[in-house]
Amino acid sequence: MVENDYINCKNISKKFGEVKALDDINFVVRKGEIHGLLGENGAGKSTLMNILYGLYSPDEGEIIIGGEKTNIKSPLDSIKIGIGMVHQVSTLVPDFTAVENIILGSEGEKFTLPISREREDIIKISEEFGLQFPADVKIKELSAGVKQKIEIVRALYGGATLLILDEPTTSLVESEFQQLLKSLKVFVDKGVTVVFITHKIKEVMEACTAVTVLRKGKVQARVPKEELGVENLVKLMFMEQDIEVTESALPKVNLPEIELSEKPVAQVKNISIIGDDTSPGLKNISFDIFGGEILGVAAVSGNGEKSIAECIIHPTMLDSGEIFIDEKSMKNNSPVEVFANGVFYTPEDRIKEGILNEGSIKENILLGHHQEDRFLKKKIFIDWKEAASAARDVIKEFNVATPDEDLSIRRLSGGNIQKAILGRAFVSPLKLLVTHNPTSGLDISTVEFIFNKLVELRNKGGAVLFVNEDLDELMIVCDRIAVLHDGELKGIFKRSEFDKFKIGLLMIGG
Ligand SMILES: Nc1ncnc2c1ncn2[C@@H]1O[C@H](COP(=O)(O)OP(=O)(O)O)[C@@H](O)[C@H]1O
Ligand SMILES: [Mg+2]
Repeated sequence: MVENDYINCKNISKKFGEVKALDDINFVVRKGEIHGLLGENGAGKSTLMNILYGLYSPDEGEIIIGGEKTNIKSPLDSIKIGIGMVHQVSTLVPDFTAVENIILGSEGEKFTLPISREREDIIKISEEFGLQFPADVKIKELSAGVKQKIEIVRALYGGATLLILDEPTTSLVESEFQQLLKSLKVFVDKGVTVVFITHKIKEVMEACTAVTVLRKGKVQARVPKEELGVENLVKLMFMEQDIEVTESALPKVNLPEIELSEKPVAQVKNISIIGDDTSPGLKNISFDIFGGEILGVAAVSGNGEKSIAECIIHPTMLDSGEIFIDEKSMKNNSPVEVFANGVFYTPEDRIKEGILNEGSIKENILLGHHQEDRFLKKKIFIDWKEAASAARDVIKEFNVATPDEDLSIRRLSGGNIQKAILGRAFVSPLKLLVTHNPTSGLDISTVEFIFNKLVELRNKGGAVLFVNEDLDELMIVCDRIAVLHDGELKGIFKRSEFDKFKIGLLMIGG
């Protein structure tokens, strides 16, 4: 151990089912650092911090704090030894005030009125750290930036000397980020060490005094202040250190040269969506998709990629601009009407958005097709025989592991649910498939299977819009890649121009 190591996570591994979220991680934070924990989505940042905070227990490894081995079993243990965490998603109770939330957080069931002394303490802390907020307004009335201040004060009130901020800037505007930066400096002056999780390099460069880069569950490097540079960090975030190992761990597909359709299957023309707290919206985006190509959209989550995927099947979401399918405007068309033009969609969250939880495989495969003539008897009643037959075709074509089409879809594994959802898109003639993160969390053979289905469609002259966070995957299977950052289209690259460094840099706003 180095003299001033404060937090030392040693040889930490953690699996979720088949996914190895953390693989033999060594992570060290020194006293007084603002330590950046940097990595793409899914790199394992939150998992590592949730372990340190006691929310998850590691499969292997140990945590040493101030030179002593710890046995953190829950957040109650970690708070006792001075660890505080502000999560990606607000955990405040909307109907309580800031003061009520903070006291609730520190005293649990002992919460009783009156609270005037505690209230004073809380306000004092908030002023001391430059984190003022209205103390007596209900949380639901407050903006994301204010809520975050309250969460930080809650951690400090609980006695945190290590403050973990999990992607604190996601919903902050620039001025709020600058305010947060000021507070970070105050933390250090007052002896609070910070772990600052982000996937934005600009923020690391402005805020951090040391950085650990995670990539796919592994530590790529611990970078000291003197070596912090944009180029160095981008390389660590996106480029492989060990080419041989990685190549064998990536799915393989064969992408033969084929001719593109003469006219575009889809034209996206000057589309805009006004942003809000949760999304930057879309800022005047235009591009075409041709039959015979897979067009990737590369974006770090939260940069407008969800809007791009959704607005194509739901054009009334647009605030301005227009989308054409086969040169026909889809303005004012509902999703079902867009589907009727040969477009289909697989959403980002396969469980929450992709399926009817209570439904059978058959019912789920019918979703989105239920108004097609093929599945209607006398134009009104669902033809369940026909639905069953379509479901059986999907099960066969897409290798869905199930005894039959009547099984509740929730009983399938994630990979089989994804295959069923993808198969659903192929039930009717398909010209354009919009698919968002279809492979997240799946094992390599399933990823390969899904990729091959996309390529098959492309080879038959169909078009695919493949919205994905994983740049490696996009580079394997796409003919072109469009880069989206902060709701803006930063460029479109042909396969011959694919350059991981360049695209990676654009993805993070470089
Ligand atoms: N509770 C969970 N159950 C299953 N898988 C999880 C869970 N939490 C994280 N994962 C998986 O572990 C990996 C790392 O996730 P996470 O730590 O959230 O990444 P990051 O915070 O860097 O974006 C991802 O593949 C994610 O899907
Ligand atoms: Mg995270």
